[in-house]
Amino acid sequence: MSEQPAMQMKIIPFNEEIIPGRFAGKTVIVTGAASGIGRATALRIAKEGGRVIASDISSERLEVLVADHPQLNLVPVVGDIAVQEDVDDIIKTATAEDDLYGLVNNAGIMDNFQTITEVSDEVWERVFSVNVWGTMRMTRAAIPHLLDNGRGSIVNLSSAAGLGGGAAGVAYTASKHAVIGMTKNTAVMYGPDGIRCNAVAPGGVVTNIGGQILSQRAAERIGAAMMVTSPGIATPEALAATITWLLSPDACNVNGAVLSSDGGWKAF
Ligand SMILES: NC(=O)c1ccc[n+]([C@@H]2O[C@H](COP(=O)([O-])OP(=O)(O)OC[C@H]3O[C@@H](n4cnc5c(N)ncnc54)[C@H](O)[C@@H]3O)[C@@H](O)[C@H]2O)c1
Repeated sequence: MSEQPAMQMKIIPFNEEIIPGRFAGKTVIVTGAASGIGRATALRIAKEGGRVIASDISSERLEVLVADHPQLNLVPVVGDIAVQEDVDDIIKTATAEDDLYGLVNNAGIMDNFQTITEVSDEVWERVFSVNVWGTMRMTRAAIPHLLDNGRGSIVNLSSAAGLGGGAAGVAYTASKHAVIGMTKNTAVMYGPDGIRCNAVAPGGVVTNIGGQILSQRAAERIGAAMMVTSPGIATPEALAATITWLLSPDACNVNGAVLSSDGGWKAF
């Protein structure tokens, strides 16, 4: 499935090339690490020598991730980023042994493309509790540790829906715009202390996020347009390549940026 509506679109091919040792000696938290983009990102960092605090709300999927890769330094932590106690647990595990280098705020949920006259309080609250509150809580808890270390890198998952109004419903669109605001403010406030905070804005990616169109208005207004303008859907590994570059010291001069990784979709 993809954040984009179910449609027959080509998958853009990508061959992952591991950069040995890029994250050696570095501890990175990845939320939503048990599926899709988070899973590919956690694996890429671990294959490049990092210690990954792989956090997810799904204990079953986390077990599979770790069992499938016994040779990698993956530390599973089951937790809901919308719950402060779970966030505290994730941070505690991440900082118990080593310095914290990075945080990938990847966990996120989609809406059903409902417009502002259709959205329920429940959908709005759940989408915001994960995408906005969860990202805020994780970042708020991580930054004191990054400040102690005098450096750090945060990558937030926004979306093409964080840059425009034609890629999702109102709740998801507003939540991903909020992620960009959080990213830029954090970059401005903590950049001078050696902490970078950037966002990635994916287009369609082959994952489990879903995104059924339950709105007739949305189907008519944006469904067909997305089919015409989208260049295809990316693999999670292609997104992991973008995310890990931003996370790595090679992006040392990049702070407060929103990097589209969408095959050029939003340039249309
Ligand atoms: N797939 C796309 O087309 C697409 C496009 C743009 C942006 N994104 C963003 O990329 C990120 C990753 O999405 P994905 O497509 O890989 O989705 P996915 O559903 O495949 O994976 C998301 C993971 O996050 C976990 N998760 C959900 N809620 C959580 C919570 N409250 N606490 C902890 N973990 C939780 C899920 O269990 C799942 O393992 C999201 O922020 C999403 O909004 C995805």
